[in-house]
Amino acid sequence: MCGIVAAVADRNVVPVLLEGLRKLEYRGYDSAGLAVLNGGLHRLRSVGRVAELAAQAEEKKTSGEAGIAHTRWATHGAPSERNAHPHISGGLAVVHNGIIENHEALRQQLQADGYLFTSDTDTEVIAHLVEKKLRTITDLFDAVRAAITDLQGAYALAVMRESDPTRIVVAREGSPLLLGIAEDGHYAASDASALLQVTRNMVYLENGDCAEISRSGLRISRVDGTLVERPVIESQLSADAVELGTYSHYMQKEIFEQPDALANTLEMVGAARSVQPGLFGADAAEVLGGARQVLILACGTSWHAGLVARYWLEAIAGIPCSVEIASEYRYRQSVPDADTLVVTISQSGETADTLAALQHAKSLGMLRTLAICNVPESSLVRETALRFITRAGPEIGVASTKAFTTQLAALYLLTLVIAKLRGKLDAETETRELIALRHVPAAVQRVLDLEPEIKAWAQLFSAKHHALFLGRGRHYPIALEGALKLKEISYIHAEAYPAGELKHGPLALVDKEMPVIAVAPNDTLLEKLKSNLQEVRARGGELFVFADADSEMSDSEGVHVLRLPEHYGALSALLHVVPLQLLSYHVALVKGTDVDKPRNLAKSVTVE
Ligand code: F6R
Repeated sequence: MCGIVAAVADRNVVPVLLEGLRKLEYRGYDSAGLAVLNGGLHRLRSVGRVAELAAQAEEKKTSGEAGIAHTRWATHGAPSERNAHPHISGGLAVVHNGIIENHEALRQQLQADGYLFTSDTDTEVIAHLVEKKLRTITDLFDAVRAAITDLQGAYALAVMRESDPTRIVVAREGSPLLLGIAEDGHYAASDASALLQVTRNMVYLENGDCAEISRSGLRISRVDGTLVERPVIESQLSADAVELGTYSHYMQKEIFEQPDALANTLEMVGAARSVQPGLFGADAAEVLGGARQVLILACGTSWHAGLVARYWLEAIAGIPCSVEIASEYRYRQSVPDADTLVVTISQSGETADTLAALQHAKSLGMLRTLAICNVPESSLVRETALRFITRAGPEIGVASTKAFTTQLAALYLLTLVIAKLRGKLDAETETRELIALRHVPAAVQRVLDLEPEIKAWAQLFSAKHHALFLGRGRHYPIALEGALKLKEISYIHAEAYPAGELKHGPLALVDKEMPVIAVAPNDTLLEKLKSNLQEVRARGGELFVFADADSEMSDSEGVHVLRLPEHYGALSALLHVVPLQLLSYHVALVKGTDVDKPRNLAKSVTVE
């Protein structure tokens, strides 16, 4: 999704702006632009990659000591140069992430005032609005504060002015924004990874904050002008973690990082003999122990993690659990219960729908809240009573992989903690479960070793236009996740069904052109699944079965079987998703799609 970088420093900031944009490329974008102040306002924009913008900057020898830059993911108006940011009004340039909901009304007012619009974006409204405020308010910081009181919606924005080249004004409401403090100047960005090149000292702005940065200082205030202090945090993000290293794609790197990501996430239980509520925060025993039911809210892959957890929470902890897509829950009239534990799951912690669903749940009086999140400084983590930070490290590929498996590890720990608080976990089972969890990273490594076989299967898929994924029980969400991975990066249409549903409709789709992928570990539903697979074979469908060591299935005509090295009981979902990630990755490679930045998608979905 959109990204912002801004800089005022004792140096030419163009290389910093461009490098920052490169670091934000993973979020997904369709155009890029920058503006610098250097004896006037100079703007460059391009549809396509940051590399093209860099080439323009090189050719035009663009330089300056103050500048703002942006990667745009189209919401209002097609991806085109005229819609790319920065947007300009008079001598003023603006970049913006988020959506201004009242942009149409503001546009009409501004047009009536004589402002001419040159783009279809909501952002251009902000540029003209600030320009209009500057007709009566001389100071840029004050004019931006006045302008944002007229805005409804979500924004992170940066504004600079030709006649005032020593400072940049930024503001945030709903979309993330942070400041960077370096020896040679001050910086701002929507994501810390963009600023690691110049500093680790970051200041995270809160919703409703405005700030002014200059070479020598910064000042932060609330919208009403009250000055505030925000702590300087030393970012722990590793600069190496966002480098590709020897891998061809971030998705490949992230799939193979899963053993380490899981080991890091489970580090806290490494030597422990028991699971402790404290893993989830200081008040966890009270917050978790008093809950009568669980409501999980998330989107996409994180929602699939929630769906797996429902099986665990009900079967192991004996607590009722429902799992809702955040964008649905936030607008649905539901029946609240104050003793519900609301669990939000998010890789980024910035997903607009998940944040809004959490706020909605809180507004209904449900205050027992927990975030399972991969970004410690994210908005989500700041808004819940409890938190568990997965330690997957930065996930750059748009298709989520290591975030998912680490979310599952966190949710399994949550299940064990709640089971214990509810008297459903005896000491022997607890020890056994902890041993099983500690072995997960090694078990995932053994699954990764199956890559050559999966690569061979990928060749058979690449010419297909559709695929059907089947699973039962807690492996049905794994089938959903496999279908999502395949469709998002290879553009092959894929659907997932609980295998028992096949004969209630989707069986009509099965013929020899329809590959059917089955998630088939040896659990209590395996025999039933085998019958469902027979139904597919009888209609000429070609089967690709991910079984395990105990599944007693082997290759036959039209049936390809791959055995995972070991059967893993309740945790098998964690292992079985890995071959599906590898399959999608290799199918995408054969098809030659943009694996890390699939078309139309963004990494961090900060708009509704
Ligand atoms: C799919 C994918 C998305 C995200 C979804 C939620 O591979 O990555 O479906 O899972 O956009 O994002 P987070 O987890 O950041 O809230």
